[in-house]
Amino acid sequence: MSPSEFGPIEGVFRPEALGHTVAIRGWVLRSRSSGGILFISLRDRTGVVQVTGRKDTLGEDAFTAAEHVQNEGAIVVEGVVAEDRRAPGGREVRASRIGVLDAGEPYPIFQEQTEEFRLDKRHLVIRSQDHVATFRVKAELLRAFREFMDRESVLEVTPPILSGNAAEGGAEAFEIDYFGRPGYLSQTAQLYLEALLVPHERVYALTPSFRAEKMRTPRHLTEYLHLEGELAWTDLDGLLVFIERMVEYVCHAIAERRPQELHQLGRAPEDLAAIRAPFERVTYAEALDELQKKGFPITWGADFGTAEERALTIERTSPIFITRFPRELKAFYMLRSADDPRTVEGADLLAPEGYGEIVGASCRETSLKNLLERLAQLGIDPQQYEWYLDLRRHGNVEHAGFGLGVERILRWMLRREHIRDTTPFPRTPSRHTP
Ligand code: 4AD
Ligand code: MG
Repeated sequence: MSPSEFGPIEGVFRPEALGHTVAIRGWVLRSRSSGGILFISLRDRTGVVQVTGRKDTLGEDAFTAAEHVQNEGAIVVEGVVAEDRRAPGGREVRASRIGVLDAGEPYPIFQEQTEEFRLDKRHLVIRSQDHVATFRVKAELLRAFREFMDRESVLEVTPPILSGNAAEGGAEAFEIDYFGRPGYLSQTAQLYLEALLVPHERVYALTPSFRAEKMRTPRHLTEYLHLEGELAWTDLDGLLVFIERMVEYVCHAIAERRPQELHQLGRAPEDLAAIRAPFERVTYAEALDELQKKGFPITWGADFGTAEERALTIERTSPIFITRFPRELKAFYMLRSADDPRTVEGADLLAPEGYGEIVGASCRETSLKNLLERLAQLGIDPQQYEWYLDLRRHGNVEHAGFGLGVERILRWMLRREHIRDTTPFPRTPSRHTP
């Protein structure tokens, strides 16, 4: 059997395969033998099929070798496709030959193990059906985001991950030794996108962002995938319309293209198909009011944490924008509201059902004077942002942008309890291996 002759397992279930000889290969999901017959569930990327092997057909030695293959061992099988009403999918492959590629050691993963153990064995655990479904949805989600950007004539660009600036202020940046000088891992591509905006007008990037936050919550990672966009000639309303159409687009794409995976993970595709722009817009002041009525002892100027965002969204089924936050809560580059010096022209998009923030967005401050004033108030040396401030000196136009946490939106879409289950190798304060 040369490898080119192997077919995918899904081929076994095509009508015309019945009665024909096939060659398949993959990993043993589980197996048992009884009375000289071996039953193997064989998995490849396209599906699972039952393989049966008889001692009298395979021969004593080959049968014994196949019998000793552990769960997750790898084999090749040649056999005839037959009907079997008891087998999943109603078919099985009756093996005329089973070749062992890797018999494997006893597989160490079981259902009842602790979460810590399973995180230590993450490199194996990612083979489980829930993880497989999750990462297929994630790939489709990334494809859908890129499709949307393409349709909207937003250009994909590649900002750096290593930088001499800590973009959002130093506190949450991972500092590295850059040949004896301080360097930082990117927390956001925003400042670079603002530079690339001028020649291209509409740009986006899909890059990892790093946050040195010692946050042990079900929605914080220290490394996450960040989708960021920056649009020229756009005010807050234009930006929010863009974001809500984008979120609607990807929800519909996943509902249509990955219904089976959604069902498997406990999310009805109809829930995502029902997401429709426009999303409700609530000002920070209105949200504060809603929270106070719910009994939160919270006053103007306080940030919304997990509990507040949960309270605001738990009874909703569609995302909501919270707009016009107090200036002190937000980064130096946000445009101050023309009609209220206390607030900025920014918004967070909160996912419903208690999940909370998935997008941070704002119009960017274009006034060099205001930017310098804000940096001074925050005690940040403007020298650090000299190249960024230079953008305000040459062809400075109205623009706005956003950052979306890919694992955050996926956590909501797939109803995962913890954000770590939306990324294969999660990075959290207590773990950066495997
Ligand atoms: O709200 P943030 O901090 O905004 C920015 O970084 C802007 N500079 C983005 C921009 O305008 N280009 O982060 C944006 C989003 C959040 O809404 C959240 O979805 C996600 O990034 N995020 C995280 N995701 C996982 N783990 C973390 N620790 C995250 N911190 C932020
Ligand atoms: Mg934010």
